[in-house]
Amino acid sequence: MASELEQDAMRRAVALAARGLGATSPNPPVGCVLLDPAGAVVGEGFHERAGGAHAEVAALAAAGERARGATAVLTLEPCRHHGRTPPCTDALLAAGVRRLVVGVLDPADGHGGGAEQLRAAGVDVETGVLADACEQVAEAWLHVVRTGRPFVTLKLATTVDGRVAAADGSSRWITGPAARADAHLLRAGSDAVLVGVGTVLADDPALTARDPDGRLRERQPLRVVLDSRGRTPRGAAVRDASAPTLVVEAPPGERVDLAALLAKLRADDVVSVLVEGGPTVAAAFLDAGLVDRVVAYVAPALMGSGRSAVENGAGTTSIAALRRFRLDDLTRVGDDVRLTLRPVR
Ligand SMILES: NC(=O)c1ccc[n+]([C@@H]2O[C@H](COP(=O)([O-])OP(=O)(O)OC[C@H]3O[C@@H](n4cnc5c(N)ncnc54)[C@H](OP(=O)(O)O)[C@@H]3O)[C@@H](O)[C@H]2O)c1
Repeated sequence: MASELEQDAMRRAVALAARGLGATSPNPPVGCVLLDPAGAVVGEGFHERAGGAHAEVAALAAAGERARGATAVLTLEPCRHHGRTPPCTDALLAAGVRRLVVGVLDPADGHGGGAEQLRAAGVDVETGVLADACEQVAEAWLHVVRTGRPFVTLKLATTVDGRVAAADGSSRWITGPAARADAHLLRAGSDAVLVGVGTVLADDPALTARDPDGRLRERQPLRVVLDSRGRTPRGAAVRDASAPTLVVEAPPGERVDLAALLAKLRADDVVSVLVEGGPTVAAAFLDAGLVDRVVAYVAPALMGSGRSAVENGAGTTSIAALRRFRLDDLTRVGDDVRLTLRPVR
């Protein structure tokens, strides 16, 4: 049974793991805290970027000699294979770690077994500690491992009556600054941000991840525009040099094949995709069953006319056929509300 101190350390490890979101793909975000036998933190670390040190190696480096006899608290099972870096199980053993507390086991083919290996080497191992929180921080990566396709979040910014743009086409800004800053964090934590050409033509968004003061973040997600017929203007903001951009066209008479696009993105190490609209693209992803999470910022406002968040798709004609989701979280963000929904599978 993990102690209170170990559970606190796991909460800290989850927060550390989250700092790597958006930078570690195709690797998972992972956090690690090392506790000495008295329960004091002697080192911590997280996986900062693909190709960089794994969380446990960073924590071991921070702890130095104090890692001897320590407990390693890790959100994800340590690797036991040679990838771009040597096995973390070897590093933990060499450092003299005595106990291992793990949140989630590694489901990747041929990658698991690190916890068992350490147990066989005499380390006291406990798994499944705060498993839900550990699953959640790595959910995009776990989703790719389990399904082979990137994790898709549909982001909406709506009025209470579900409108995303006024009849005159204006849509800025429905939600307030706090919600917009929160949405920029979502962007920063995603590998790719996607819109349809309709949104580019209406709003000319830059689709970059920015700090609240407007400064570009160091790492930018890939910008993806669904544009079957090549209508994205040459001077569109998404084509500027501030971030990489993929404008996806389609054969004559067709629209971009979403499943094929996701497969291509996956092959390019994209683990998480943030779909930012507009209503036609939102409907297309929902109709294709390709939405894994909805994050809806709802402003305390009513429009009464204008575009709905989801339009031009199959839709539903009966309440009995309503597309229902499970409410996972509800948080006030400034003067707005953020709803996190998950499909009922
Ligand atoms: N408040 C918000 O959260 C929010 C967010 C985004 C947008 N908006 C508003 O939404 C409005 C634009 O909406 P929209 O529906 O016209 O634009 P959209 O959904 O961004 O883009 C739709 C276009 O994407 C292209 N497309 C390519 N492949 C597709 C596929 N597989 N499925 C669906 N579409 C595909 C189609 O044009 P082609 O056939 O030419 O390829 C389609 O007309 C604007 O007023 C904007 O301000 C609001």
